[in-house]
Amino acid sequence: MDFFHVHVSTRARALAAEVLQSGWLSEGEMVRRFETELTERLGLLHPVTTNSGTAALHLGLAIAGVGPGDEVILPPQTFVATGLAVLMHGALPVFADIDPRTGNVSPPSIERAITPRTRAVLPVHWGGYPCDLDEINALARRHGLAVIEDAAHALGATYRGRPIGAISGMTAFSFQAIKHLTTGDGGALCCAAAGDARAAVARRWFGIDRADSQPSILGERVFDIDTVGYKSHMNDLAAAVGLGNLEDFPGRLARRQATARAYRAGLEGVAGLRLPREEGDRTHACWLFTVLAERREDLIRRLAERGIPASVVHRRIDRYRVFGGERHDLEGQAAYDRQQVSIPVHEALTDEEVQSIIAAVREGW
Ligand SMILES: Cc1ncc(COP(=O)(O)O)c(C=O)c1O
Repeated sequence: MDFFHVHVSTRARALAAEVLQSGWLSEGEMVRRFETELTERLGLLHPVTTNSGTAALHLGLAIAGVGPGDEVILPPQTFVATGLAVLMHGALPVFADIDPRTGNVSPPSIERAITPRTRAVLPVHWGGYPCDLDEINALARRHGLAVIEDAAHALGATYRGRPIGAISGMTAFSFQAIKHLTTGDGGALCCAAAGDARAAVARRWFGIDRADSQPSILGERVFDIDTVGYKSHMNDLAAAVGLGNLEDFPGRLARRQATARAYRAGLEGVAGLRLPREEGDRTHACWLFTVLAERREDLIRRLAERGIPASVVHRRIDRYRVFGGERHDLEGQAAYDRQQVSIPVHEALTDEEVQSIIAAVREGW
């Protein structure tokens, strides 16, 4: 049994073969089609695809104007990419506490972390469960801060009836290999404002306005660059894989959500185990199914003996020296970090495997 599943559909293979035969591998028609379908099928606002989720976060911070001397608030419960994207701009990552019932950043803790230097907030939807976005966006408006959601785990999740990717000013997704929609490597920055999306399109490719710059007789595009841009765009080969994988995404997401429901029903009341809190106003993308377990290592060992992989996936990132070392005043994060562990929830698990995981956890450890 695998912990993660890398899904490449038959259509994804066919579209990738089409690109390989076409003679056009760079950003082109496939990228445009993928972006259009991300909007049409999943309701994402102005998705600007990139070559990674990290690049999407980096681009979002650039568009928010984050630079040296600025502070950006984020939770420690994430992958290092979230904090490193802030450091790449010469800004300071400031860690806020999380709600240990969900793994997501707590809005009051964000508010306490705000200083005159704060420029942006990066809420992370841990495992695919949406943060308290209304509270976060309201406090960001009050303090004049940009909100860039790190939705690397949350494609397909919804919050109060709206898809993640259509709510805050900007939202960054990851389509890396083990994500539930993969392009091999890739990402997208969704922008609520069309102007931000236009800026993101230019800045993902060296700051050059590709649409309006035509080649001169000398064979060189005529353009000016007025701001630093990056080499962050997606290529057609990656987009073909994403486009092909998009078709069966709703069914695969529904399968993950059904498995999560089976876990909730089957694991309720198990001694030493707490299930994550889920509110009725949002739906989970179920990239991970994270529980809180007493004596976590014993549980992981017992499951491993039965051939079932379990993993913490990512532990708090503030402990890395590059971020200044572990903060000792984040009680919610400390509690979560002691007990969080995820069990497989991907769509390739059979019903028997799901039942065997439930039975193994219920046996105790
Ligand atoms: C929470 C989070 N943010 C950002 C990223 C970065 O995404 P990518 O690997 O596509 O750069 C990841 C990657 O796994 C992640 O888990």
